Amino acid sequence: MARKKIIAGNWKMNMTPSEAVELVNTLKPLVANEEVDVVFCVPAIDIIPVVEAAKGSNIQVGAENMYFEEKGAFTGEISPNMLTDAGVKYVVLGHSERREYFAETSETVNKKMLKAFEHGITPIMCCGETLEQREQGVTMDFIRQQVKVGFLNVTADQAKTAVIAYEPIWAIGTGKTATTEQAEEVCKGIRECIVEIYDEATADAIRIQYGGSVNAKTAPELFAQPDIDGGLVGGASLKPDFGAIVNYNK
Ligand code: PGA
Repeated sequence: MARKKIIAGNWKMNMTPSEAVELVNTLKPLVANEEVDVVFCVPAIDIIPVVEAAKGSNIQVGAENMYFEEKGAFTGEISPNMLTDAGVKYVVLGHSERREYFAETSETVNKKMLKAFEHGITPIMCCGETLEQREQGVTMDFIRQQVKVGFLNVTADQAKTAVIAYEPIWAIGTGKTATTEQAEEVCKGIRECIVEIYDEATADAIRIQYGGSVNAKTAPELFAQPDIDGGLVGGASLKPDFGAIVNYNK
């Protein structure tokens, strides 16, 4: 069975609520491609206005983070119920910026993964190596570790619905996209890791994105690779360019 591509924008810490509504209104007609899943992952404060602005379109809304407890004394955090009640379907977990600046670890990512599944939110779990790791030749060892810990105690049925985003850190926001061969090699390696943890059927179903300076020019070749099922797009998701990325197959 062919996997449906999933192309997600990661707005990061950009767009005030009013700017967010304006951007959704601009992008709505440009991202109308029913052949792919289109997700806007937006700052928490933008979620409600973006869900409202996206009504009647093919845009689904995601969060950029989530806490792993149900509720309580966790000042500043957002719970899974808050997200689902607001209309959120996806959540980005373990982005390298959260790992680097906010002490996110594969262990906390795993707790969040389990919580997301429990609440019917689809996780987009990020993994990716530093330039140093790539140069040392340990890329795949490092990523396998991130994937294995991230998916601890996740059932095969849950894993089938998950999204993994492979994002080499050296390619994020640098304008330096990984080559198609580099991206496909790691995405293929991640799929093989899923076979080892689960089975072929799970690996066939799970969707693996590439992220890191994806733009309208690089998207078609990247997304045509057998193991790349779409992209997680930062900078270019804030521009009309995102329409061209979503319509990479037109
Ligand atoms: P970028 O960001 O497209 O701006 O490189 C990707 C990401 O961090 O998800």
